[in-house]
Amino acid sequence: MNPFFQFDEKIENAAEKALQMCAGHFAEIERVKEYNQQKMLKAFQQYGVSESMFAGTTGYGFDDRGRDTLDKIYAYAFDAEDALARHNFMSGTHTLTVALFGMLRPGDEMLCVTGTPYDTIQPVIGITECSGSLKDFGVRYSEIALKADGSVDLEAVGEAVAEKRPKMVYIQRSKGYATRPSLRIKEIKEICDVVKSASPETIIMLDNCYGEFTEIETPMNVGVDIMAGSMIKNAVHQDDGMLGFQQGTGKEPKESQPTLYDKIPDFDDFGIGCFLLCGSEVYKLSPGEQGLGAKKMQQIKK
Ligand SMILES: Cc1ncc(COP(=O)(O)O)c(C=O)c1O
Repeated sequence: MNPFFQFDEKIENAAEKALQMCAGHFAEIERVKEYNQQKMLKAFQQYGVSESMFAGTTGYGFDDRGRDTLDKIYAYAFDAEDALARHNFMSGTHTLTVALFGMLRPGDEMLCVTGTPYDTIQPVIGITECSGSLKDFGVRYSEIALKADGSVDLEAVGEAVAEKRPKMVYIQRSKGYATRPSLRIKEIKEICDVVKSASPETIIMLDNCYGEFTEIETPMNVGVDIMAGSMIKNAVHQDDGMLGFQQGTGKEPKESQPTLYDKIPDFDDFGIGCFLLCGSEVYKLSPGEQGLGAKKMQQIKK
């Protein structure tokens, strides 16, 4: 009994009992946390993280020791051969998009084995209409629905992979807005085993958003070839409630103009629109018929 509130004894007892019932789970979380904490410390030691690595660089930033070491630490933490951790990857969607566009070529097939992917990835693939999607570039997409209990249909996965031999199998670890359970390493391993035995050359890519440091074992150790995730989530929100220069997925930059900070953006989703913003700004400067560059040139000539 603490001296601050006069809780009924029944409530105190119920709270105590609830804590006892959860004790095993909390202990497991502590164990995973402790393991990953020590792993990170070891990584910092191993790569000799030092003050000089936090100094700014000039020019092109080649041989930036801080950046290179950060990549090594990420690779160590996730048991990967290599890693790319960049603040310019503005969101999970952006990071996943870069990975997908980096690996898939026209005519390739991407097979998602965890039902329909997270909402913001859909326009990237072209499941929902979006100019510049993978579909636009001739990348084929198919998916395997989850079973009624939300688990992965391993039998269907094995059959589809053997038949299609897709360039990539895509796994989404956490549930997003769906009600299915998020995948644990054990289930990710089962998927990888099925895929690799049916088609060893198929690349297994994992959307690891929200999965980082949640278990001791890592996806790269159970058969995943490449994974991407998000470390920033809400960090793009400004103090005044404005978003950074993220653009709504697939939206035209002119619709919200968040870069100017002159009005409250009318969206709260992030995605490949940020590329569009950049691309369309460059386009405006181009000397084509529509380009601002051409108009500027005309003004100068006048
Ligand atoms: C499973 C999953 N994938 C991708 C994303 C996209 O991440 P971001 O919102 O940083 O673009 C999320 C975001 O919640 C997610 O839950």
